[in-house]
Amino acid sequence: MHSTSLKINLPKVPRLSTSLPGKRAQELIARDLAVTSPSYTRGYPLVVAKGEGCMVEDVDGNVFLDMTAGIAVTATGHAHPQVVEAVQQQAGNLLHMSGTDFYYEPMVVLAEGLAARAPFPLTEGVRARVFFTNSGAESNEGAIKLARYYTKRDRVLAFLGGFHGRTYGAMSLTGSKKVQRKGFGSLLPGVSHIPYGTHASLDYLEQQLFATILPPQEIAAIVVEAIQGEGGYIVPEEGFLARIREICDRHGILMVVDEVQSGMGRTGKLFAIQHWGVMPDIITLAKGIASGLPLGAILSRPEIMTWQPGSHATTFGGNPVACAAANVTLSLLEAGLIDNARQRGEELKAGLNKLAQKFKQVSLARGKGLMVAVDLLDTEGNLNPELRNQIVDKAFYHGLLLLGCGKAAIRFCPPLVISSEQIQVALEILERVISE
Ligand SMILES: Cc1ncc(COP(=O)(O)O)c(C=O)c1O
Repeated sequence: MHSTSLKINLPKVPRLSTSLPGKRAQELIARDLAVTSPSYTRGYPLVVAKGEGCMVEDVDGNVFLDMTAGIAVTATGHAHPQVVEAVQQQAGNLLHMSGTDFYYEPMVVLAEGLAARAPFPLTEGVRARVFFTNSGAESNEGAIKLARYYTKRDRVLAFLGGFHGRTYGAMSLTGSKKVQRKGFGSLLPGVSHIPYGTHASLDYLEQQLFATILPPQEIAAIVVEAIQGEGGYIVPEEGFLARIREICDRHGILMVVDEVQSGMGRTGKLFAIQHWGVMPDIITLAKGIASGLPLGAILSRPEIMTWQPGSHATTFGGNPVACAAANVTLSLLEAGLIDNARQRGEELKAGLNKLAQKFKQVSLARGKGLMVAVDLLDTEGNLNPELRNQIVDKAFYHGLLLLGCGKAAIRFCPPLVISSEQIQVALEILERVISE
């Protein structure tokens, strides 16, 4: 098959050649705003035309350093040549057949790859069974269904600040921002939330809730992010996740770990939960799994994924092109990108901590690997969302793409191919923006 490998050759550092937004970007934004849903949350006026590695070029030829990876997605960088090649080849062979009703090789290979790497114990020679989806929300939706089906219980416990998606089940777990729920009516019944990440919260669960209004024997699952993402890149206290495991074991509850944002190598391990050596029952994935193609997955211990044929299915989930991209992504992650995430993440945190010493408006950095954030503070040390928004916005006009998270945090979730030089460039631009 003829394959046209991409030769974009963008510069490795930002290069702005027009005022922003440029003329073409202005035109496209005006057209977009006239016809797309007003629920989208665009911050700065970036209209992307091309991407390569950690760089993206807008429609007017301006080149930006991307510390967002399209919301923590393009793990192997924009348009990694091996991913593009795999996508082109697979597209030439088979675009769709539906893994629900038929078999095809890329889906088999990916399920084998994920099952072999799942941080679960071996059960009769197999670690996991895999159900493929198209998104994080769908993965969590399916995980709730599986947990209810297997345990024959219907309550679910989740965490304040957690984000799990926008469909009704996933939204019921989400405890992130009021705007995400307000106006949408009643949600899934039986979902409770407690604060994230602290032993005090688990004390409250065990001593207060379990003893009064939340009988643990009615809970199907505790759904928890290994590191809270949208909620602010919050790393839980030591022992928090292990204690959830222990609570689940004691009461026959399933531990579901949402690794949609923290998974696929971003934190310096394939799954963030592996930093704590905890083995959950179910893991949900999406985002980084296929380097930008829409794909998600539910990994479950084999003895739990026992739902009968027809009980859960999907037309598109596990699309062959997305699976082909994911198979290459997995090899690239293990061939060096997970290590790069760990090493570059250390450099990034060290650089951010220097900024924190220099500017009292910047908190110390937190996170693991390339899932790192700092809070922006006012002169009294309180969270300062306005300052955060100003910095994220201004950075764009200096060629640096950032995203916020939590109340007043800036998150750094670049593609895992980022170089030391690019980390330094990002830090320099950030320093300039904060100084201004
Ligand atoms: C931890 C986590 N879970 C689930 C989701 C939802 O994923 P999607 O937007 O693909 O539905 C997100 C998205 O940000 C996420 O960060």
